[in-house]
Amino acid sequence: MSTDLTKESLVGIIGSGAMGVGIAQIAAENGHNVVLYDVDNEALVKARIKIEALMDKLISKGKRTQEQATKILSCIRYVDGLHYFKDTHFVIEAIVENLEVKTELFLHLEKVVGKDCVLATNTSSLSIAAIGGKMQNPERLIGVHFFNPAPLMPLVEIIPSLRTNPEIVEEVTDLVKFWGKHTVLAKDTPGFIVNRVARPFYSEALRILEEGIADVTTIDWAMKDLAGFRMGPFELMDLIGNDINYVVTETVWQQMYYDPKYKPAITQKRLMESGLHGRKTGIGFYDYEQPDLNPLPFHDRKLGQEIVDRILYMLINEAADTLFWKIASRDDIDTAMIKGLNHPKGPFQWADEIGILRALDGMRDLFEWYGDDRYRPSILLKRKAEEAFPSFY
Ligand SMILES: NC(=O)c1ccc[n+]([C@@H]2O[C@H](COP(=O)([O-])OP(=O)(O)OC[C@H]3O[C@@H](n4cnc5c(N)ncnc54)[C@H](O)[C@@H]3O)[C@@H](O)[C@H]2O)c1
Repeated sequence: MSTDLTKESLVGIIGSGAMGVGIAQIAAENGHNVVLYDVDNEALVKARIKIEALMDKLISKGKRTQEQATKILSCIRYVDGLHYFKDTHFVIEAIVENLEVKTELFLHLEKVVGKDCVLATNTSSLSIAAIGGKMQNPERLIGVHFFNPAPLMPLVEIIPSLRTNPEIVEEVTDLVKFWGKHTVLAKDTPGFIVNRVARPFYSEALRILEEGIADVTTIDWAMKDLAGFRMGPFELMDLIGNDINYVVTETVWQQMYYDPKYKPAITQKRLMESGLHGRKTGIGFYDYEQPDLNPLPFHDRKLGQEIVDRILYMLINEAADTLFWKIASRDDIDTAMIKGLNHPKGPFQWADEIGILRALDGMRDLFEWYGDDRYRPSILLKRKAEEAFPSFY
């Protein structure tokens, strides 16, 4: 196949939910004509209303002129069938996170589009290989993982499968960069970069809570005030939604053959089962309906530092393992965590700042104390610690 993605390429988006709308907006703002399809007509109507309202808001803030907004809106065509995708050059799928449904869609899509059309999936947790497993030409399929909200979040993970044509990796990366995004390259492995390396940020906070070492507000206070994170782990879980965050953790754990490093927490599962999903339901780890009921943090610096250290050691250890297994490069891992999750520093920057020896000692202490494989130090951390001047840089 010969690929040539340019500004003039016709872009197709499938699924007009939270992600599809945002990606359609990005493509249209960059001058592409876009066809946007959803199996649910109501979702399409909502998508149109959402983009129009957003353009009005941008105009009122002086960020777009009326002329620009009209042009952007005119680039998007809302369609009720996949046959409108016949002439697309690049299609991004952003439908429900279900392997069977996605596989079926790509099988069908392949028969509709031309042979040179590049196909992408925005999946956050499924394997690209599995999604393309039944395709006739899986070499044209690639993972292109945007973050929510897509127009605002600067990161996109690019995930080729074992079958993806290298030319397509280059073409898609160039196009997404032209759309103003930072791209990082990840191997087709569970959680890619961000959803893997970030797991300890949530799960270690949950362990600290479950053990009764500190409460929700104290852990969040420590991570914000002492470590500089914009949001604490529990605030972030409530924002993402405990239903979604829990399922991502469980999926990564299952796909990693139940490695205890990724084991989900019962506490979060119970919140999910109880419908206490966080901000969107009014209650999660915090009460958003009656904020006065939320306890105040216990401002104990020593305790706070213990919390910060433990979570940072785990983040560094997971990043080191991700690098060790060659899932992504050092710089891409740092960039992904800063730009995909707004972490104040990348894990390797933290490692060098804290000291690799200290991080390794911290992991060894946890491993010895708990006797749990979850805390096993990464081989790479051990290797680095043996160097005369341990550094990831
Ligand atoms: N929401 C996030 O934070 C986020 C971030 C990154 C990636 N993702 C991934 O992006 C994808 C979409 O997520 P979302 O949050 O936008 O979901 P969503 O539920 O908001 O939207 C999905 C849309 O797909 C439509 N749909 C379902 N099956 C379809 C089909 N067969 N054909 C056409 N349309 C169909 C639904 O009607 C719905 O409108 C998922 O794979 C998800 O894992 C989500």
